[in-house]
Amino acid sequence: MNILIIGSGARESAFIWKLNQSKKTVKLFSINPNAGAAELSTPIYTEKEDFEFIKSQVIELKIDMVLVGPEIPLINGVQDFLKRDPLTKKTSIIGPSKEGAKLEGSKDFAKKFMSKYNIPTAKYRSFRRGQIEVAQHYLETIKPPYVLKADGPAAGKGVLIIDDLNEAKIQLEELLIFGKFGESSNTVVVEEFLDGIEMSCFVLFDGKNYKVLPYAKDYKRIGENDTGLNTGGMGSVSPVPFLDKKLKKKIEDKIIKPTIEGIKKENMDYKGFIFIGLINVKNEPYVIEYNVRMGDPETQVVLSRLKNDFVDILTSCENQTLDKLDFHFDMKSYTNVVLASGGYPEKYEKGKLITGLDNITESIIFHAGTTKKDNNIYTNGGRVLSVVSSATKMKDALKKSYNTINKIDFLGKTFRKDIGFDL
Ligand code: AMP
Ligand code: GLY
Repeated sequence: MNILIIGSGARESAFIWKLNQSKKTVKLFSINPNAGAAELSTPIYTEKEDFEFIKSQVIELKIDMVLVGPEIPLINGVQDFLKRDPLTKKTSIIGPSKEGAKLEGSKDFAKKFMSKYNIPTAKYRSFRRGQIEVAQHYLETIKPPYVLKADGPAAGKGVLIIDDLNEAKIQLEELLIFGKFGESSNTVVVEEFLDGIEMSCFVLFDGKNYKVLPYAKDYKRIGENDTGLNTGGMGSVSPVPFLDKKLKKKIEDKIIKPTIEGIKKENMDYKGFIFIGLINVKNEPYVIEYNVRMGDPETQVVLSRLKNDFVDILTSCENQTLDKLDFHFDMKSYTNVVLASGGYPEKYEKGKLITGLDNITESIIFHAGTTKKDNNIYTNGGRVLSVVSSATKMKDALKKSYNTINKIDFLGKTFRKDIGFDL
């Protein structure tokens, strides 16, 4: 079986690592992979990674399955593009159609979907260009902090949380009038602030049946104690200690089941992961956002816990037989601490030599922004490596990750020393 992996972060490194453990005969290909993924799959290097190129590779390499890591190709319709062509329409795509991907691609669409299917989420109103006055007036009627969300994709930067009313009004102008995020801010969602603890819920859906994967928690801010700028994610843990059976049941009944029902009723062509960003407010779960893919840095801990053959899982997703498969997960605690480049998530330099990657015994290393040159590994992005460890107790797993981090070095090495601090 030939599988093409789209994406080149640590999430995709974890996919490739897990697929490599399969008992099935698989051949893995990845487009522009990082140094780690390039070792575990056949790399395809290209300057122009567009849909035509992907299609040409699917045909040439006789790809049976395309596993799409990031959201942008899905939002832009890669699934529809491949399904439309007679030469590629039989290829399995793990990832939804363009219509399904709107759950992530448009916050306004996602909020309307949640209202329609009675899924708990923050109260909101959406405003389009030209509605600035009504929008500003609405701000006056709600309590701070004000949550403003650009409707479309904005590389994780499209959510503004503002305490001051005047500042919120100014930012609303930036979004709606001055197009702060281009077309993505043509519509803005203004919503009620929810005060609670966040967690990530992952569901695999085959179009008929679904399976819930382990919950995880990620640490999005760059600074300790959750301070500073938002990043792609600086660490993660799984399982989530405060998540008990009762809360899980509530999530399944009030959120997962109606979400699945909604996707079916709307006839979305959807085979793939649904990542539900949740917030727990006094033991009541609310949806913060939907993503139509796995999370990064959560995948690195979630897949590390998976005991099943990942090829079996993806194949039964394609065959709509997920109900026939029992999923098994390691119950130990898994932790991921991310090593980033100095300056990230703002400006940072690339090309720093990474040392100490040999002889790592206590952790698994998933590469993200790395590249190999003359047998040396160099930094090549903001998030560089994910350091994953496990132990019966979360704090022992963290100790292993931090021990490993002490052995690895590169100029500007940055990481949070407090992953798991709130648990
Ligand atoms: P999103 O891009 O929707 O995940 O939002 C980014 C982050 O903003 C989330 O991870 C939350 O920390 C925060 N956030 C978004 N919406 C809300 C809300 N209604 N209340 C509180 N925090 C929020
Ligand atoms: N961990 C958050 C995300 O992948 O969007």
